[in-house]
Amino acid sequence: MSTRIWGPIKPIGGDQHSSEHRLRATLSWPHLIALGIGAIVGTGIYTLTGVGADRAGPAVILAFAIAGAVCACAALAYAEMATLIPTAGGAYAYTYSVAGETLGWIVGWSLILEYSLACSTVAVGWSGYLVGWIQSAGVELPALLLTGPHAGGLINLPAVLVSLAVAGLLILGTRESATLNIVLVVIKLVALAAFVALTLPAYDAANMQPFMPYGFASSEVDGTTRGVMAAAAIVFFAFYGFDAVATSAEEARNPGRDLTIGIIGSMLACTLIYMAVAVSAVGALDHRALANSAEPLALVLRTLDHPLAAWAIALAALIALPSVILVMMYGQSRIFFVMARDGLLPRALATVSTRTGAPTRITAITGVFVAICAGFFRLDEIAELANAGTLIAFIAVAACMMILRRRAPEMPRIFACPAPNLIGTLAIVGCLYLLFSLPTATLVRFAAWNVIGVAFYLAYGRRRSKLRTEPGQTEGAAG
Ligand code: ALA
Repeated sequence: MSTRIWGPIKPIGGDQHSSEHRLRATLSWPHLIALGIGAIVGTGIYTLTGVGADRAGPAVILAFAIAGAVCACAALAYAEMATLIPTAGGAYAYTYSVAGETLGWIVGWSLILEYSLACSTVAVGWSGYLVGWIQSAGVELPALLLTGPHAGGLINLPAVLVSLAVAGLLILGTRESATLNIVLVVIKLVALAAFVALTLPAYDAANMQPFMPYGFASSEVDGTTRGVMAAAAIVFFAFYGFDAVATSAEEARNPGRDLTIGIIGSMLACTLIYMAVAVSAVGALDHRALANSAEPLALVLRTLDHPLAAWAIALAALIALPSVILVMMYGQSRIFFVMARDGLLPRALATVSTRTGAPTRITAITGVFVAICAGFFRLDEIAELANAGTLIAFIAVAACMMILRRRAPEMPRIFACPAPNLIGTLAIVGCLYLLFSLPTATLVRFAAWNVIGVAFYLAYGRRRSKLRTEPGQTEGAAG
């Protein structure tokens, strides 16, 4: 199949830009691990654990293990691609370089769902904690400003405000934001460690029976998609975010070493933490009590008669969840930036501030987009749509890794994915299984999103693409 069918291919390593269009290299590996954990640990473990328990029963533990295993395979492929093509565009840039512009655009369009809707999801989750926390102190808030129209409100104002505040932080500059992120990461990890220490002693084997009340495969039960795979397709949200590290490659001081440590290190750490938290929560409390709680970890602590700890973990979530928004919004603004620099989005957006080195204009637009989604849409729907976009990106990265192994085996690989065909295939098959375990309504919305994306590409990006309009750019070695 000719690559021309799929548009031009971006040359690998040919991504040279004038200083006005280049991001500054300011990050080293501790920043990158913090970026990874900052993006990974968030609403998924703090809130969606309850939804997962509702969909799978105690087997939500298995759902975490399955989602974690799929993500680990994807992380290995990401690490190889991020070191091979160190540019700010992540999965979009890899696909552009390996499979051509059209597929690259489609993956970039999916990344918008991943990053923006993940930010919006966490902002809505944060708003729930804030409202609960204030109301538990006896203060009444105007209900119209606490939820979107879907729940009888006008707008989820706290979610809008936190989204805009984080965008403001990013506009102040990468360095400051990454350093603040480290502090927030420490807070949420200490809170989860305290949760495990307080709840594990209350483990009761009776709470594990029956372990898999809704079976393994995803199926409709009483109007809800249930089963271990249905839960895995939701709690998958808790694992991704490590690719935010890959998308910051252009800003890493020593991409080869630092990115490998950043991606693999943050992935492993989070998988272990989640397993411990899930076993503690489901072992301590009947899963039906956890189901669909807006604050399942605080609920477990309160039920076990640790009211102060419940209050503190809610506070930790409140303080630390914005770090997830920070990292995901950082990744999103960089992806928009690279797509604009490539001419697929308006090129005027691809300028960086001479003072901070950050892409100010695109960050502001990202913040507004995230705030609108957070202000008006439902939590579970945006989380599921974010998952669909992420799964497509992971599939693309694994496929690119395997294709490049064949097409350009001689390229020096700073990090080489072990058993690339096996790991790549497992990542692709696992992601496809998770994708088709999502509710049908989510898949329909996802298809509609892609139709809009392709239409935009045909009307705009295809004509303005830098590779098509500027002579002197040739097809890459990888083609
Ligand atoms: N993994 C991130 C979270 O759980 C997106 O919030």
